[in-house]
Amino acid sequence: MAEKASFSRREFLRGFAAAGLALSTPPPSQENAVRTIDPDLAVVMSDLHVGKPWAEQKFKTDRSYDYIDPTVRRLVADILSMKVLPAHVFILGDVSVCFGEERDYEIAKEILSPLEEAGIKIVATAGNHDRRVPMAATLGEWIAPSPVEGRFASVTSLPKFDMILLDSLKETDPASENNSAGRGGCELGAAQAKWLEDFLAGTTRPALVCAHHTAWSLGINKQMVKSPRVCGYLHGHNHSWQENILFSSYARKTMIRMVGLPSMGMDRDIGFAVLRAFDDRVELAQVERDYYFPVKTSKEERLPLWDCLVKERHGRKVSFPFEKKI
Ligand SMILES: [Fe+2]
Repeated sequence: MAEKASFSRREFLRGFAAAGLALSTPPPSQENAVRTIDPDLAVVMSDLHVGKPWAEQKFKTDRSYDYIDPTVRRLVADILSMKVLPAHVFILGDVSVCFGEERDYEIAKEILSPLEEAGIKIVATAGNHDRRVPMAATLGEWIAPSPVEGRFASVTSLPKFDMILLDSLKETDPASENNSAGRGGCELGAAQAKWLEDFLAGTTRPALVCAHHTAWSLGINKQMVKSPRVCGYLHGHNHSWQENILFSSYARKTMIRMVGLPSMGMDRDIGFAVLRAFDDRVELAQVERDYYFPVKTSKEERLPLWDCLVKERHGRKVSFPFEKKI
């Protein structure tokens, strides 16, 4: 089981304020009131890894992930306690704990539905621990209509820019699964790559491109840098807040930011990111809720460094300017 972080709620709220975010629990009299939803505000989350108890999973090991679902519930409550709610929540894959079983998505639906009930639109894509058929069957309209057959690609037109979600899951053959498999690889595929190329060639709006895997692992890092409208790239998969700069060559000054997101509940950085759009840029603020390796550690083994990481990283803000010089 995960041990509770010594990082207090007061410190958490202080970090939220540092990120320029207003987060508070509404007083009881306002709990049922309709709160403001800001179309220029969004939450981006990844690597939820929720699911049925590990002992009931298709493949069993000695691992236990029973702490994940409560952790994700806690973070969903944090989002719902924002004074101004985001218009969208974008999910960058790995919704399932491991094997993409239908029950995992049913639990995800139950945990995330309060967001939808609050008026927030959810848009999801797949990660390497997901399976498209049960994911689409269960999450329904959270999977936006895709311009690429068989993929969960989508474009969400926000007031100031387009949010592009790519589907980087390469599914494995279920018949070949074993305890060490059940996890797909990564690829865009020819059809999605062609669609992306055509879309970027035809758009005049700024675009923030997102996928479960990094631009490097999909082989699109130079394309992202060279596309005049792509202002940045977000990914999940590594369960860590990671800041990188993509550039096409030493001879060119054109570059963009690539940022990796925390996990919502599994390990390492635990949290999500809050995205705010301005006329000339997008800002992304890190909400760091915890840090741990709960499977391998007991309370006594919890490192003081982890609490330092939470304090240092919470409220970290990065910008993605729309203007590029190509
Ligand atoms: Fe993951």
